[in-house]
Amino acid sequence: MADQAEFTPADVEDARKMDRGEAIQYHYDNDTRFFALWLDKALNYSSARWFDPLSGAQLATDLATAQREKVQYHLDAAKVERGSRLMDIGCGWGAVLNEAVTGRGATYALGLTLSEDQKAHIDAKAWPGVEVRLEDAFKFKADEPFDAAISIGAFEHFAKPNMPTDEKIAVYAEFFGRMAEHLKQGARFSLQTIVWEDVSFEWSNETLPETIFPQSSIPYIEEVIAGAAQTFRLQYLENDPKHYQLTLEAWIANFKAQRETIENQWGEEKYRFFLDYLRYSRLAFTRRKNSLSRFVFLRR
Ligand SMILES: C[S@@+](CC[C@H](N)C(=O)[O-])C[C@H]1O[C@@H](n2cnc3c(N)ncnc32)[C@H](O)[C@@H]1O
Repeated sequence: MADQAEFTPADVEDARKMDRGEAIQYHYDNDTRFFALWLDKALNYSSARWFDPLSGAQLATDLATAQREKVQYHLDAAKVERGSRLMDIGCGWGAVLNEAVTGRGATYALGLTLSEDQKAHIDAKAWPGVEVRLEDAFKFKADEPFDAAISIGAFEHFAKPNMPTDEKIAVYAEFFGRMAEHLKQGARFSLQTIVWEDVSFEWSNETLPETIFPQSSIPYIEEVIAGAAQTFRLQYLENDPKHYQLTLEAWIANFKAQRETIENQWGEEKYRFFLDYLRYSRLAFTRRKNSLSRFVFLRR
């Protein structure tokens, strides 16, 4: 029997009633100790970077190294340097924030999240120069401009299920417009997101995993570029589903190795639910229904 609160998956009707904060907390506030059992030690909950996009040369053979490569890539891409002020939109458990201040000498790294567990985790770490706020990226207002921005794995939560393309682009344009207000001219914004690839718009709407990530809708590459066009120049783009496929394989292996602990602490339903979602996601990348994109934008 589980000794923690049992996990009950939402049905689609409940998922559709959630607001933005509730939707994030439904997925991410599932006990940081649970995620720590199968993510890397820094708790990166997004695709790692395993190889060079052009040469294909391997950068990592294990999850921890591939996640460190990913974090370093984004800090380079956003040009985070000694003295920088960085914002991380959807900062998770703070891996980027920590490395920005300790590894790069950034003076201030601000993370936004809608997950209370993630905020509590970062607050407890008390990394000097790091601040985390439980604030919606669509409401946040900066007191002072930032030199650089990074956002990894949050963009997928911005548009709503069944939104037509023009509405999705309007939501993305609003997001990029807000980012432009927070950033100095010429500042870099490094963005990582899952995208739809070999999938029609109708299919993408019908197959949304609404009970896993409620109130979310993945973009197509073209929608991201269209949303950014007014406020940012696109400087660089890499796109390859293999990064997420390898990441999911590593998570699934870790997850299965922890079956007994997970079932004892949180119940069989939670084990099955998360394993099914991880397997389903891996298949989507293997079949190239989804891909993983990394954009570097320059504030106009
Ligand atoms: C998949 S996690 C990625 C976390 C982290 N960037 C990483 O790579 O480990 C998505 C993150 O986006 C945040 N998020 C989603 N929508 C948001 C919004 N509108 N405002 C602020 N944070 C948001 C969630 O709270 C969560 O921290």
